[in-house]
Amino acid sequence: MAFNLSHGVWCWLIGVPTGKKDVKLGKNYFKKYSCNSCHVVNMLGGESGPQLDNIKSKMKPQEIFKVIKDLSAFKKDSKMPNMDISDEVAVYITLFLLSL
Ligand code: HEC
Repeated sequence: MAFNLSHGVWCWLIGVPTGKKDVKLGKNYFKKYSCNSCHVVNMLGGESGPQLDNIKSKMKPQEIFKVIKDLSAFKKDSKMPNMDISDEVAVYITLFLLSL
């Protein structure tokens, strides 16, 4: 078990609000993993997956995190690929999605 998590990830784990810097990191990872090739955010992106702009009203943070890690683990025939994203990166992407 590794405990060398970054500041933003610790804040998220213990429920302390995280800052703009963390959201920006998440946004960069969202682009890096080409999430927007399938998902619309801010009216930009592909449409094979659901639009994510208001995702915080539909899903709990933990659920968003789990989907990013591996949607196929609990949804059979999911069209969303498992991209082998680390826990840390998945937290940042979750923070970005919660900011929308
Ligand atoms: C190849 C297309 C594709 C890519 C790339 C993709 N997704 Fe998805 N995603 C989907 C589809 C399709 C669904 C709807 C569930 C299903 O059919 O499996 C989904 C569902 C979701 C959901 C749940 C939304 C809801 O309303 O239920 C979230 C959150 C999500 N994706 C986030 C991401 C993030 C973050 C990334 C990048 C790390 C990403 N997705 C990359 C296709 C994709």
